[in-house]
Amino acid sequence: MAVTILIGAQWGDEGKGKIIDLLTEKADVVVRYQGGNNAGHTVEVGDEKYILHLIPSGILHPGKVSVIGHGVVVDPLALLQEIDGLHERGVQVTGNLYVSDAAHVVFPYHRLLDAMREKQKGKGKIGTTKRGIGPAYADKVARTGLRMGDLLTPDRFAERLRQKIRETNAIFRSHGVKPLSFARVNREYQAAAKRLKPLITDTVTLLNGALREKQEILFEGAQGTLLDIDFGTYPFVTSSNATAGGACTGGGIPPNRIDRVVGVMKAYTTRVGEGPFPTELVNKQGDRLRAAGQEFGATTGRPRRCGWFDAVVSRYSVMINGINELAVTKMDVLDQLPKLRVCVGYKVGRKVYDTLPHDVALLQRCRPIYQDFDGWMSPTGHLTEFDQLPKRARVYLRRLAELSGAQLSLVSVGARRSQTIPV
Ligand code: GDP
Ligand code: IMO
Ligand code: MG
Repeated sequence: MAVTILIGAQWGDEGKGKIIDLLTEKADVVVRYQGGNNAGHTVEVGDEKYILHLIPSGILHPGKVSVIGHGVVVDPLALLQEIDGLHERGVQVTGNLYVSDAAHVVFPYHRLLDAMREKQKGKGKIGTTKRGIGPAYADKVARTGLRMGDLLTPDRFAERLRQKIRETNAIFRSHGVKPLSFARVNREYQAAAKRLKPLITDTVTLLNGALREKQEILFEGAQGTLLDIDFGTYPFVTSSNATAGGACTGGGIPPNRIDRVVGVMKAYTTRVGEGPFPTELVNKQGDRLRAAGQEFGATTGRPRRCGWFDAVVSRYSVMINGINELAVTKMDVLDQLPKLRVCVGYKVGRKVYDTLPHDVALLQRCRPIYQDFDGWMSPTGHLTEFDQLPKRARVYLRRLAELSGAQLSLVSVGARRSQTIPV
């Protein structure tokens, strides 16, 4: 019996949704442990395409239990919208989904604060998803937040919400932003609470019970290692621990119960939002990658910045997360490129770095040192076995794993479940 954590090893959108969906086959419980509806995880099942934001990507497998852990920040209205959207498409959610009573709630004032702060930052903005994630986590850490369990005691909830809206409206007024109506927010959230009540529970006890029963638990990371609040390219990060440790703090299982960590990485690199990206291609080559990989945000629709694979980043991710298995996705996107590059180190002037500098200003100045590869120039999307891959593709993959320092366990050559090659 195993506990698996799956994380994104780059800047998010690595294809976690697809791999989670595949691994769910063997899992009993799938758990989101951090982030909120800033995430956008795409799963293609046959001709159907689903984009999950808050609900674990395992939900598409009937009968599996999905958990939104206490480390997640939950916008109840967005959650209901997602549940309804899945129900309309025939996906059974009720009875299979649980939400932690200790997960913090995202309110409209968090979204307004998010947008306001981004505007204030001007050129220095983070490029957030404007889902209120940063302000919601800020309230959690400041010990002024409301939690999903609070939704279950209407009077107390209303009292605290009134206070929060009074405080935040004062900020909005002083910045010329239209204040919120307490009555309206309270009405909407109380109505949402009534519907969500059966789902809200103590998920820590639920998960540790599943552990005792030797069930297979799969933790689904959102975002990616380089967006982690502690390990990422701060301040151009999200506000939670997207790395493997987050599964313990945001899910509630002890560290010594984790059996394996799967790191998902694209065969190249993308990033949405601002911040350093040493291998970024701001040229036709980058445009080609974006077009071939359909690199547009699953949550915001923004074009993703594209660049070569960065082994400094992947090595760092393997180290931070204890990744023992690598899933490399979107190999097929490189099928028609005659030449490929992989970053093996950074250079600033004459100084060489083989680890990721924490100083974001220094990272901005880093220039990649590349190893060049010949492309394989043939389609891979229909292949099902590693040995069928063109030799040059195998050389490329082996080198990615070697540079990263972990075992290659899976290669993805298309968005569909069937387009997956075990190694
Ligand atoms: P996530 O946030 O990590 O779950 O990733 P996203 O869903 O935001 O972005 C990954 C995109 O790539 C989605 O549109 C997937 O359907 C798609 N995808 C996943 N794996 C592959 C693959 O191997 N090849 C191709 N071409 N697309 C893939
Ligand atoms: P998935 O789970 C890619 C980025 C935003 C921004 C920064 C902070 O689909 O991989 P936030 O709204 O979290 O305060 O924004 O983080 N970001 C993501 N980028 N994929 C995601 O999720 C992301 N979630 C947040 O673009 O740069
Ligand atoms: Mg995504």
